[in-house]
Amino acid sequence: MAEHLPTEFNKKNNNQDNTLRPSSFSEFVGQEKVRERLLLCVEAAKLRGEALDHVLLSGPPGLGKTTLCYIIGEAMGVSVKTTSGPVIEKPADLAGMLTSLNHGDILFIDEIHRMQRTVEEYLYSAMEDYVIDIMIDQGANARSIRLELPKFTLIGATTRSGLISAPLRSRFGITGRLDYYSTNELAKIVARSAGLLDVEIDKSGAIEVARRSRGTPRIANNLLRRVRDYAQVVTNGKISQDVADAALQMLDIDASGLDEMDKRILRTIIEKFNGGPIGLNSLAVSIAEEQDTIEDVYEPYLIQEGYIKRTARGRVVTQLAYDLLGIEKPFRSGQQEELPF
Ligand SMILES: Nc1ncnc2c1ncn2[C@@H]1O[C@H](COP(=O)(O)OP(=O)(O)O)[C@@H](O)[C@H]1O
Ligand SMILES: [Mg+2]
Repeated sequence: MAEHLPTEFNKKNNNQDNTLRPSSFSEFVGQEKVRERLLLCVEAAKLRGEALDHVLLSGPPGLGKTTLCYIIGEAMGVSVKTTSGPVIEKPADLAGMLTSLNHGDILFIDEIHRMQRTVEEYLYSAMEDYVIDIMIDQGANARSIRLELPKFTLIGATTRSGLISAPLRSRFGITGRLDYYSTNELAKIVARSAGLLDVEIDKSGAIEVARRSRGTPRIANNLLRRVRDYAQVVTNGKISQDVADAALQMLDIDASGLDEMDKRILRTIIEKFNGGPIGLNSLAVSIAEEQDTIEDVYEPYLIQEGYIKRTARGRVVTQLAYDLLGIEKPFRSGQQEELPF
């Protein structure tokens, strides 16, 4: 299932992700609000000896949704079964998974926005009343049977919270939206990961890697691995700011931390559409990328960092984008130039 990935450094590699994945709330850096809310709900559910309420986690790829799910499982002391929206083909698949859970267990549904509507509808009664009615047999013999389910916790993850239907959303008692990390938070993550990978890195080295990680822990960890390779082969193995800088330059990761696709989006708006405004649809066609991916994966970061603005008439690039790409902003007739007095 192709998840939309901003760069080769944000590709999922489960083995690698797992070694660096924090396993407790205390090791999980940043996202204070979401972390505290979850921690509180977990503690309360444990005190009452109940299953945790259903949780919906949203945000761009690589920010820690899957990690949080496992942390919750660990903290609750329950098992986590994982699946993903598009692989649940029919209601019976869902019923099979739900009936295999024990009291309090977690069912993690990744990319829950890509679940089929017909399957989704079965989830409603499962989440609310812990029962599922499924049809067996066909034609004249068709009948529905009711399966009782253990009290379980559904954790849904999505990069597109906007695509979650209202009935589904309303059945989650706890929701959390993950945001891009600050450089300082990412530097902490890089330092922690370096410890686990047994590489020496100093503070300025960690900040250098963090700055170029597009606000994303998964990218930070992947860049750290590449910088480590470089350090081992080219220098004495220790990662300083200079070493990190040289390694990242070799990898074509520039100081802005933007990846190829980010820059292609900016370049396209500037070169083909005079800097905008341009509609999402035309942009998607020009760069041959899905609208959803542009909206969920690329745009949020470009907007946060001030390269793009969303206006009523479409997307517009800012001066920052021209500066980044080294393109002179053309003076357009009819446009008032700001005079320096
Ligand atoms: N808050 C965090 N603190 C430390 N490491 C993190 C954090 N969030 C994510 N990571 C690292 O980034 C990797 C990707 O996170 P993941 O949970 O798989 O992202 P998502 O499911 O949102 O795509 C994890 O393996 C983990 O090593
Ligand atoms: Mg994930």
